[in-house]
Amino acid sequence: MKRQKRLLSVIKFQREPADIPTFMCNSFRSGVLLGDRKEHFRFGCWRRLLECLKACIENIGYWVPRMGHGCCCDARQKVRVVDVDEGGAFAGFLYRCLASMPLRRYRSRLEYLERATADGFRKRLLIFDGSVVGQIEYAPARFSGYPIRGDDVVVMNCVWVLRRAKGRGFGKMLVEDMVRSEGDATGFATIALEDHWSPWFKRSHIEKLGFKPVDEIRVRHKAKHQEHAFSIWLMWMPVKEKASPPKWDKKNLLEGVTFCLAHPLYRPQTWKGDILEMK
Ligand SMILES: CC(C)(COP(=O)(O)OP(=O)(O)OC[C@H]1O[C@@H](n2cnc3c(N)ncnc32)[C@H](O)[C@@H]1OP(=O)(O)O)[C@@H](O)C(=O)NCCC(=O)NCCS
Repeated sequence: MKRQKRLLSVIKFQREPADIPTFMCNSFRSGVLLGDRKEHFRFGCWRRLLECLKACIENIGYWVPRMGHGCCCDARQKVRVVDVDEGGAFAGFLYRCLASMPLRRYRSRLEYLERATADGFRKRLLIFDGSVVGQIEYAPARFSGYPIRGDDVVVMNCVWVLRRAKGRGFGKMLVEDMVRSEGDATGFATIALEDHWSPWFKRSHIEKLGFKPVDEIRVRHKAKHQEHAFSIWLMWMPVKEKASPPKWDKKNLLEGVTFCLAHPLYRPQTWKGDILEMK
């Protein structure tokens, strides 16, 4: 209901030019109809425009028109960001991520969820044209998957938009959705990797989403590519003036992470001791 009101409040009908049905709303690129930039959407006829608005209002998610098509019905694409909660329609995604996972459940994720879902953990999915193409997972620092600390700091465990859906503003949309939903947070922290052999958590990607690097450790993995040093960055995005940057426990980070099997810093359940060492 809240979102419907927000959506309606930003729509204004254009009277000029009178013969082309157009409405104006805040830029969808800057995330879900918020921000200063305005965009005009034109339709083939008034009936189509009204159909689109109706669909948009009925759908509690967001609606992103794609420009450049004569017919709005062909052009319209729906985007929704939904919560993953236990017992809900997307509950399966609480345990697994967008990557294919082994069928056997791994204990450490279940243990993490048990701890974190009790207080403030959230996972949200981005659904585009009916399929899940993005996800974001975050929690207050003390329940996050990383050894990051900070008062009123929320830690983003993971953000991911599938390659086929990239470049449509979905990554930013997920981050802005997180910022909106965590209104009490002074800032958001996460980690990023540099010179790592995988395509994951690249510093340049995380920076594009609005985070800035604040600290670095140079490490190597004890089991994979042992000769290959890479950096782990503590990344920070303050959203309030009084925000003080987060701290991290570098020693603890050398143990690796256990909340996600697909994470490049994952420590297998059978591994004893640290999975990383300082370079
Ligand atoms: C980072 C990521 C979420 C961005 O998703 P996206 O939907 O493509 O990003 P957006 O379209 O919202 O773009 C965000 C910004 O980055 C810019 N951007 C996106 N891709 C870019 C590229 N290849 N080159 C340059 N800039 C780019 C956009 O222009 C935008 O900036 P703007 O708002 O100033 O215009 C996505 O690339 C991703 O999932 N990467 C992997 C993340 C990861 O490792 N997750 C862990 C999995 S285990």
